[in-house]
Amino acid sequence: MTATTPPPQRLVEMTGIRKSFGGVAALNGIDLHVDTGEIVALLGDNGAGKSTLIKMLSGIGRPDSGSIRIRGKELGLRSARDAIDAGIETIYQGSALVDELSVSRNLFLGREPQKRLLGFLPRLDKQTMDKQSKALLKEMGLHRDVDPSSSIAKMSGGERQSIAIARAMQFEADLIILDEPTNNLGVEETWRVLQFIRDAKAAGKSSIFITHNIFHVFQVVDRAVILRRGEVVADLTIADTTIEEVERLITGTTTPV
Ligand SMILES: Nc1ncnc2c1ncn2[C@@H]1O[C@H](COP(=O)(O)OP(=O)(O)OP(=O)(O)O)[C@@H](O)[C@H]1O
Ligand SMILES: [Mg+2]
Repeated sequence: MTATTPPPQRLVEMTGIRKSFGGVAALNGIDLHVDTGEIVALLGDNGAGKSTLIKMLSGIGRPDSGSIRIRGKELGLRSARDAIDAGIETIYQGSALVDELSVSRNLFLGREPQKRLLGFLPRLDKQTMDKQSKALLKEMGLHRDVDPSSSIAKMSGGERQSIAIARAMQFEADLIILDEPTNNLGVEETWRVLQFIRDAKAAGKSSIFITHNIFHVFQVVDRAVILRRGEVVADLTIADTTIEEVERLITGTTTPV
C-alpha cells in the first residue's frame, strides 16, 4: 500500500470583498483563498487594506459586500466569538490585551477554565489558570520569571506581544491570523514566532501572516498575496518569485528598488 498525500482543501474563500469608510474605499473587491496547511503572506504598504481585510475574517469588521466561505460554507461572522467557533484565531496588530487584568486572565480571555463546586455557581479556576500560564510563558521563552497574577500593564511591548501570541498558541484553531506579530519583538522571540508558524503548518493548520519584513516572508510562507490601495495586485508562489519582484509589487515601482 502506498501512502498518498491528500489534495489540499480550500479552508477559506473570500470573494469580492468591499469595504468603505466614509466614502473612501479601503477594500475594492478582494478575492483571497487559503488552503488547509498553507501559509499565506498578506503584503502591502501602510494603508493598503491588510488589517481591514483580516478583520472581516476574525469577526471584528463586516464587509459592505462580498462572501466569506469557510470549508465551503458561507459564514456570516458577526462577532469575534463566531470566528473563534469557526476555528479562526487572530493575533491583532498592537495586540488586544486588557491592561486591567492579570497576565493569566489575559491568556485565557473569554475562555477561562471554571470549577463548579457542588451547589455553587461556576467559578474561575484561578489555580489551573496560573499553572497553565506559567508553563505557556516558559514555552514562549519569556526570560524573566513573570508572576501570572501580576498586572499586564507592567510589561514591556515585546513581553505583551509574546503574551498575545502565547494566547493564540494554546487554542486549537484551523486558521491562525497574525497581523504584524513580530513588531516589538527581540531576536529570539521573533524566531519563536516564525517557528510557531512552521509548527502550525506541520500540524496541518493554515496561517495568514501579515508583515513588512520581506525576509520573514521568504523564510516561512508558501504564497504571497500583495495588496495595493485595496486591490490584489499579485498572488505569487514564493518558490517562483524573488525578493526584488515582491518589493517592486508592494511599492508599485517599475524600476528595481
Ligand atoms: N475604522 C476605520 N475608519 C476609517 N478608516 C479606516 C478604518 N480602518 C481602516 N481605515 C482606512 O482603511 C485603509 C486601510 O487600512 P488598513 O489598516 O487595513 O491598512 P494596512 O494595510 O493594515 O496598513 P498597515 O501596514 O499600516 O497596518 C486606510 O486608508 C485606513 O485609514
Ligand atoms: Mg495593518
